[in-house]
Amino acid sequence: MKLLVTGGAGFIGSAFIRLSLAADPSLQIVNLDKLTYAGNLANLAEVVADARHRFVKGDICDAALVDSLLGEEGPDAIVHFAAESHVDRSILSASPAFETNLRGTFTLLEAARAHRIGRFVHVSTDEVYGSLEAPLEADENFPLNPSSPYSSTKAGSDLLARSYFLTHKLPVLITRASNNYGPYQFPEKLIPLMISNALEDLPLPVYGDGQQVRDWLYVDDHCRGIRAVLDRGRDGEIYNIGGNCSLPNLAVVRQILAATGKPESLIRYVADRPGHDRRYALSSAKLKRETGWAPRQDFAAGLAATVAWYRANHDWVAAVKSGEYRTYYERNYGGRATVAK
Ligand code: NAD
Ligand code: TYD
Repeated sequence: MKLLVTGGAGFIGSAFIRLSLAADPSLQIVNLDKLTYAGNLANLAEVVADARHRFVKGDICDAALVDSLLGEEGPDAIVHFAAESHVDRSILSASPAFETNLRGTFTLLEAARAHRIGRFVHVSTDEVYGSLEAPLEADENFPLNPSSPYSSTKAGSDLLARSYFLTHKLPVLITRASNNYGPYQFPEKLIPLMISNALEDLPLPVYGDGQQVRDWLYVDDHCRGIRAVLDRGRDGEIYNIGGNCSLPNLAVVRQILAATGKPESLIRYVADRPGHDRRYALSSAKLKRETGWAPRQDFAAGLAATVAWYRANHDWVAAVKSGEYRTYYERNYGGRATVAK
């Protein structure tokens, strides 16, 4: 089995590559990644010497490159992670998300069709369902109602991917996961940002009242879910992958402060994110029923392991928090008003 993985130098793609190479000795992986601010070869240190992994630096929007790579490598399947993945960045500037998430996915679908690729797993998100009132949970038939430029480009790419199944019989499968956390996550997302700020005694910027609810999924559980879909999913189907762990942001931030041994006085309530979704909630019953998959990682233990990883990998954190990150941090947080709760 040979896979083309896109975005394999990012947080989830690199975890998928590590986990997949460890699970299957006969597997070969070609990893196509542009190395944006979020792509990092250090995330692949564990597999860099493995002859079963080939890294190719390139853009999924580059049709000629994608076409020649598929021709040269002849992969059995594509697992498509590459994306501009952060809501706040898509609010500051939506153009990269538009290009990569829509045009990039389109470029891959066209090439996959031309090369008759046997399976195309499109990795998507629960954010396409938008904000849900309790006690609703989204199953795969729930209407799409995205709020942010990020989630709307993901919803658009889901529809495009599905159309290639319906129209061209390309064997597309779509996964929609909840919020991931774990080692190697870029410190722009809630959990790694709060952990790395806490470890440096910096303020923890909580948007609005901090009562927004997210469902937390450990990254390896997500990757096992994608592997279950790749191996045993049905063509043309959508599979939710949730962590079964709904928590308000403030509770997560407080657990991070407890795990890092830092005081709650580090919390700063700041102006809310525009268009902020109040609550995500997901049913993964279909994936469980069809493949037997279930999340294994308990949140407290997963968070403790994640905090331990960030403590032990200070050099990785320092490298990714230098340069472009500072510009982004200033743009997103610099002018943001502190608000009373
Ligand atoms: P990430 O931002 O950590 O990594 C994205 C990777 O894609 C980077 O390595 C980057 O260099 C690469 N990339 C970006 N644009 C590219 C392009 N044009 N061509 C080639 N490579 C490009 O993202 P992540 O958190 O690992 O997310 C991976 C996927 O999972 C995304 O599709 C995202 O929408 C989805 N997802 C993420 C979460 C989450 O909580 N992080 C949850 C559900 C779904
Ligand atoms: P994030 O990790 O950006 O994921 P998403 O918006 O895709 O769910 O944010 C998770 C939650 O944490 C979301 O409700 C926004 C909130 N949040 C903060 O309160 N402060 C922050 O600095 C960040 C990055 C997120």
